[in-house]
Amino acid sequence: MKLDRSPFELQIDDLTLDGQGVGRREGKACFVPGALPGERVRVVQTGRKRSFDTARLETVLEPAPERVAPPCEWFGVCGGCRLMHADVDFQRRLKERNLFEALARIGHVSAARRLEPLVGDALGYRRTARLGVKYVAKKGGTLVGFRERAGRYLADMWDCRVLHPAIGGRIGQLRHLIDGLDARERIPQIEAVVDDAGTAALVFRHLQPLSSADRARLTAFAAEEGLQVYLQPGGPDTVHLLAGPQAQLRYGHPDFGVTVDFGPLDFIQVHAQINRRMVRRAIELLEPAADSRVLDLFCGLGNFTLPLARQAAEVVGVEGDARMLERARANAEGQGIRNTRYVCANLEDEALKDLPWLGESFDRVLLDPPRTGAAAAVEALGSSGIPRLLYVSCNPATLARDAERLVHRFGYRLEAAGIMDMFPHTAHVESMALFVRGV
Ligand SMILES: C[S@@+](CC[C@H](N)C(=O)[O-])C[C@H]1O[C@@H](n2cnc3c(N)ncnc32)[C@H](O)[C@@H]1O
Repeated sequence: MKLDRSPFELQIDDLTLDGQGVGRREGKACFVPGALPGERVRVVQTGRKRSFDTARLETVLEPAPERVAPPCEWFGVCGGCRLMHADVDFQRRLKERNLFEALARIGHVSAARRLEPLVGDALGYRRTARLGVKYVAKKGGTLVGFRERAGRYLADMWDCRVLHPAIGGRIGQLRHLIDGLDARERIPQIEAVVDDAGTAALVFRHLQPLSSADRARLTAFAAEEGLQVYLQPGGPDTVHLLAGPQAQLRYGHPDFGVTVDFGPLDFIQVHAQINRRMVRRAIELLEPAADSRVLDLFCGLGNFTLPLARQAAEVVGVEGDARMLERARANAEGQGIRNTRYVCANLEDEALKDLPWLGESFDRVLLDPPRTGAAAAVEALGSSGIPRLLYVSCNPATLARDAERLVHRFGYRLEAAGIMDMFPHTAHVESMALFVRGV
């Protein structure tokens, strides 16, 4: 059946988890990206499914008080941000709702105490990004940036306000730079990162060997812009510095007197301010004592391990990526931190229970898993009797699933939970939950 393209009015009364307004037309749900609850809007239907329709926002007839002018020209086209049309307090309330609803609906748990959201800068905050690159003759050259919200293509964008200015302010220059390369059709992406000192590193993935003219152009760009240019001809092991300052990429936790060295492709938390606040809060909630033995699961480069080592007797970091773990070890050694140990293990492995390090006595555990959560680790740890467990999550659904097991199966209490606004303007929800037992 053909779609009816005539505009119609809709009252928006809810929001989906990814920030689309929801209204009802003759009882059937209609999803409208860019509309907010409480608004009356004029829309045009764009899709029809059995249980819901989708529509494009034409006009906001009665705006919600939370509506703001998006501080980005490409908002609505670029798929990077979903919530820029709402003020940040509203965005944070939405994220809180998502977290606590997931805990209740999926995990059948509620937190005894709600933590104040951890908040920081809402623009210029994002210090790591994978930028797509595509040469499109029809668009007159190279596109660099994020995917379009509604499509498979890259957005035609010239800057980005949520990225750190050292990256977001250079998107236009990167487009021109790649236009002028012989290999412009064989560069699919650039990984970008900025460290605490403001050193920017760009890793150019290239699918064919670069001509000497291209190498010279990239070298000149690095010199002009004062940034590091790395080349990546193959897998992650092939990354090497082509040009730019020799500086070691590094971020720090000044509160704990530790720094973390990292490579341009290593995982680091995207928001420097929130990361510092998150680590401080995690340690406050975990309350390690001077004689505590702490297990730090999914430890990465030692982002929590090293600060924890300043407070506790010993910290054991466990991580699946051997290269990251090697760097974590070097980070500790380089700063004379001698009370950490590191174990390389696959924490999704069902046989986790049998690993000898898990049988050691720990009195604190921190888990910071990827989006898939920590089901196997929770299963292995649940009956170990560790009294305090802090779970840092980037996905409320898997946190809630794991919370159900910790509470209803292993007898933990969900003492406190709250969001961290690690990704303002996106619908991405990061959170922290403290589980305790036996007190
Ligand atoms: C969200 S990151 C957290 C890293 C670190 N805690 C931090 O704050 O920077 C998740 C980490 O889990 C690791 N990881 C992912 N899957 C894993 C697995 N199955 N076993 C062990 N580690 C894994 C990743 O390599 C990554 O370092």
